[in-house]
Amino acid sequence: MARSTQAVIKLQHLKDNYQLAKIHSQQAYAVVKADAYGHGLIPTAQALVDADGLAVACMDEALQLRHHGIRNPILVLEGGYDEEEWLAAIEYDIEMVLHHQSQLAILIAESHFKKLKLWLKVDSGMNRLGFRLNECHEIFEQCHHAGLNIKVLMSHFACADDLCSEKTLNQYQLIEDIYQQQQEFWPKLILSTSNSAAIMAWPEVRDHISRPGIMLYGSSPLIKTSKHCDKLKPVMILTAKIIASHTVTAGESIGYGDSWVADKTTRVGIVAIGYGDGYPRSAPTGTPVWCQGNRLHTLGRVSMDMLCIDISGKTDIDVGSEVELWGENINANEVAKLCNTISYELFCQLTPRVKRVYK
Ligand SMILES: Cc1ncc(COP(=O)(O)O)c(C=O)c1O
Repeated sequence: MARSTQAVIKLQHLKDNYQLAKIHSQQAYAVVKADAYGHGLIPTAQALVDADGLAVACMDEALQLRHHGIRNPILVLEGGYDEEEWLAAIEYDIEMVLHHQSQLAILIAESHFKKLKLWLKVDSGMNRLGFRLNECHEIFEQCHHAGLNIKVLMSHFACADDLCSEKTLNQYQLIEDIYQQQQEFWPKLILSTSNSAAIMAWPEVRDHISRPGIMLYGSSPLIKTSKHCDKLKPVMILTAKIIASHTVTAGESIGYGDSWVADKTTRVGIVAIGYGDGYPRSAPTGTPVWCQGNRLHTLGRVSMDMLCIDISGKTDIDVGSEVELWGENINANEVAKLCNTISYELFCQLTPRVKRVYK
C-alpha cells in the first residue's frame, strides 16, 4: 500500500464558489497567491479560465501564470520591488498595485511606464500597504502629471471578518470619499475594496472589482456565520490512511511526551499524516477527524509523519481505512480554531509531500 496522503481538489466547487463571489460586484479578481492558498497555482488558475482577473502577491507568481499560458488579467498585489519587475509588468501585460512613494519614483522616471495599468492603493486603516489618506490628493496629482494610468483605486479591510466591528464601514466611507473627490480628474477610475468577508457580510460595501480569496476555496473567513456560509462548497478534501492499529490499556500512553494516557482500554489507529505534511502539530487531543461515516478524534501529539486517532468500538475501521482530516465532513475552520489559527494557514502550510489530486 503506497502512502496515499492526499488533498483532493474539487475544481467544480472552486468555480461554483467563484460564481457566488461574483454576485457582489461587476468583476471579481480571484486571489490565487501563495500557490492558490495551497490548492496549486496553475490548476486553480486553469479552472478559473473565465475569471475577470487573477490576483497574486508578487511578480514571480504572476510570471509563473504567464509562463503556463494563463491569459486572464493578472494583478500583483505588492507591485514591483525594483525597476526590472516594473519592466516585466509591461512585457507580460500585468496590472500592478502602486502603494509606496519609492515605487512612484521609479514609474515617474521613465515614460514607458505610462503603459502600465495601475491600481493605486490607499491605506484606509489597515496600516500595512498603501498611501496615507492625507497624501492621496498629492499622489494622484503626481500620477496625473506623469501621465500614469491609474485604473483602480483600491484599499483593504482590516476587520471585515468581524460583523460587530464598525471599522469596515468607516474604512469604506474614507475610501469612497477619496473615490468621489477624484472623479473629476479621473472619470474612468473604478473602486476595489472587498475581500471574501466583505463580499459575504457587508452588502453596504459597493465596489466595481472585488478580490475574493478564501471563499473561493470554500472556507468562510467570518468569525460568526452569515447567510452565504452554507452556500460555500469545500474545495480541498485532505485524507490519509490508517497504516497500523492496536489496543492500549488504562495507564498506557501514546506518542511523544506521553501527553495522552489512556484511562480505559482504547483501540488506536495510526494515520499516515503529520506536521511533515502540514497537518498542524498544535492540534490537541480531541481534534475531529472523519472515517467511514464516523466523527472520531485525535489522541496525543501529532508527530512528523503520523497521528493517532481513537477507533474504539469501530470494528470496521482498520488498516487501509481512509480518514478525512478536513474537507466535506470536517470543517477546516473547526480544526483551525482548535489550533489557534485560521483555515488560510492550514491550507497554505500543506507541504509538497501531500499529493494534490484534481477532480
Ligand atoms: C489585498 C488583498 N486583497 C484580497 C485578499 C483576499 O482576502 P480573503 O482571502 O480574505 O478573501 C487578500 C488576502 O490576503 C489581500 O491581501
